[in-house]
Amino acid sequence: MQILDGKALSIKIKEKLKDEITTLKKDGITPGLAVILVGEDPASQTYVNAKDRASQEVGIYSKKITLPPDTTQEALLQQIADLNADNSIHGILVQLPLPKHIDTAKVIEAIAPHKDVDGFHELNVGKLSTGSAKLIPCTPLGVMEILKEYNIDPMGLDACVLGRSNIVGKPMMNLLLNAGATVTICHSKTKNLKEKTSRADLIVVGIGKPEMLQADMIKEGAIIIDVGINRLESGKLVGDVAFTSVAPKCSYITPVPGGVGPMTIAMLLQNTLIAAKNKG
Ligand code: GUN
Repeated sequence: MQILDGKALSIKIKEKLKDEITTLKKDGITPGLAVILVGEDPASQTYVNAKDRASQEVGIYSKKITLPPDTTQEALLQQIADLNADNSIHGILVQLPLPKHIDTAKVIEAIAPHKDVDGFHELNVGKLSTGSAKLIPCTPLGVMEILKEYNIDPMGLDACVLGRSNIVGKPMMNLLLNAGATVTICHSKTKNLKEKTSRADLIVVGIGKPEMLQADMIKEGAIIIDVGINRLESGKLVGDVAFTSVAPKCSYITPVPGGVGPMTIAMLLQNTLIAAKNKG
């Protein structure tokens, strides 16, 4: 069994991005990223602060915008319109989830597609589906980068994606499909889940249920990618995979923390650089 070290890979990618950004700055372009947080959700605050810090580390101009929980949809849309028109900003990210009184789809569609560094806008989702996307959702893109780094080619593999979110499951399905895998996507309504996971060569789990993928659900030698980040009442951080029992049975596995998480941020920075280069 080999650990897929997303943390180490993210550091390597950030070093490369730092060099590229230094070069871009000499040409007069400083990549700019705006991250908007509405409300005071502690997990979201942690993620947004990490994105802000990582941006600054690689030389991206980072604009963190924190809005109160009772911000109106209109005010948020106006904020996005201002950022769309701001030439110093190449990437816009609105941290999800948003408060219930705000229509998430409307907000995402308001972001200029060429500044949509999350890859959540319908135009970018469509392009991902046809295989022509430049801005691809960060977490599934991070998973693909990990596979590439360890020379794991999805071509012809039976892949099983657990979770059908727009942020992870659906884009993951498209990326694996475009890479030649045979993809099964499972979710909370799936019947006989174990039957599907047991025949998979590659399993990507992103459903937000602590340690739900157990050793008896996988085949010997499977490749396991854990997208989950769950904090137990004890304070311990665990993934969606029962690491201790699954690890000895698989060929490769991502740890939590230190697996997919750091790659999500590295891919956000990479997308911001892509957006900055594509400007105009
Ligand atoms: N919430 C959880 N993951 C993400 C993400 O990748 N992007 C945004 N905007 N919000 C999230």
